[in-house]
Amino acid sequence: MKEVEDKLISLVKSYYERIDHTIGYPICQYPNIEGFGEWYDKSGICDIVLDNVGNPFAEEQLLLGSTLIEREVILKFASIYGIPEDKAWGFVTSSGTDGNMHGIYFGAKKLLYETGMQPIVYVSEEAHYSFRRICDVQNLEIRLINRDKQGGMDLELLKKSIDPSRPALIAVAVGSTFMGAIDDQAGIQKVLDEVKPVAVYKHLDGALFGGYLPFTKYKDLVSMEIQGYDSIAISGHKFFGIDEPSGFLLSRKDVLEAQKSIKVEYLNDDMPLISCSRSGLSVLKFYWIIKHVGFDKFTEEANEMLENADYLQQKLDEINYPAWHMPFSNTVFFKRPTKEIQLKYALANGFIPEYGGELSHVVVMQHVKKNIIDDFIEDIKTM
Ligand SMILES: Cc1ncc(COP(=O)(O)O)c(C=O)c1O
Repeated sequence: MKEVEDKLISLVKSYYERIDHTIGYPICQYPNIEGFGEWYDKSGICDIVLDNVGNPFAEEQLLLGSTLIEREVILKFASIYGIPEDKAWGFVTSSGTDGNMHGIYFGAKKLLYETGMQPIVYVSEEAHYSFRRICDVQNLEIRLINRDKQGGMDLELLKKSIDPSRPALIAVAVGSTFMGAIDDQAGIQKVLDEVKPVAVYKHLDGALFGGYLPFTKYKDLVSMEIQGYDSIAISGHKFFGIDEPSGFLLSRKDVLEAQKSIKVEYLNDDMPLISCSRSGLSVLKFYWIIKHVGFDKFTEEANEMLENADYLQQKLDEINYPAWHMPFSNTVFFKRPTKEIQLKYALANGFIPEYGGELSHVVVMQHVKKNIIDDFIEDIKTM
């Protein structure tokens, strides 16, 4: 046993040694759920399996997990993403990808229900890679649209690519993975109004940006009421600081109602979700952060992140180091530095010919404070 413990302790130690300098990925390194661990031990919940099977909004609940609290969590988030309470529907997912997987699935089924036809999925090449996997798994036709100079979906190419005789499922990147670019939602809508596909469903991938934008002056970008999207996926371990992969999907009841019914006798319900068992514990963590961290603190954190991203850009500009970051973005990308720096800061790499080819990026999350940025700049100057 001692051997096992030592091994785990050294794992934890090595993690803490590099945590402050892990700045290339969109993970909040200091989770926001202070006090949860203590409550988890003391309350006795640690000895219970919380399994949130099924749709948390179904009338009858199995009560194997925390689905009643999950409803509260979803309705609270719905209110900040401009979804009226009486129309809102959604659930806690295991990650941003899981949310995208379900968003694309529900979109495809809703469009099939409305038109009797399979849709074509349109997504920017700059969007998260998992859309290609998701379309593969769901056997959906996908059309990758090249990015424009700003990293958003090229709208001229989108216009040429859309087949008006088939339903269009648009996966909108609100924060692309490498460049931190966002697709122009008003521009996409204009294209759709001109081309007029037989039916449209818009899913937003807001895995990272969707977490912080509601707490900034750019909140309209992720408001369903203003942008008219049908579902949005958000990660919990990114901006919200949940300490394990998690997320949520927000949508509407009419999307749920358009799903094919699959009645499952042993679960006493119609099962609209792909997943059966889901974590009831991460639901409690979301509830905890809503109640204990609160939206004022998120507002402070979101704005500080954007301010620090500007600071990083400014410091790189001061030393004439080629660097860019897009509007609304906490992601700064720049000419790829030495291997030593890449490893020290766990930088993520990308390749974009329009910006000189080999690049790396920093995602300015809550833990990337000015002192860490100053260290990073010193290393860029000297290493
Ligand atoms: C834009 C974007 N979408 C989706 C994902 C996937 O999210 P998750 O890691 O929560 O599955 C990521 C991950 O970084 C991302 O950057």
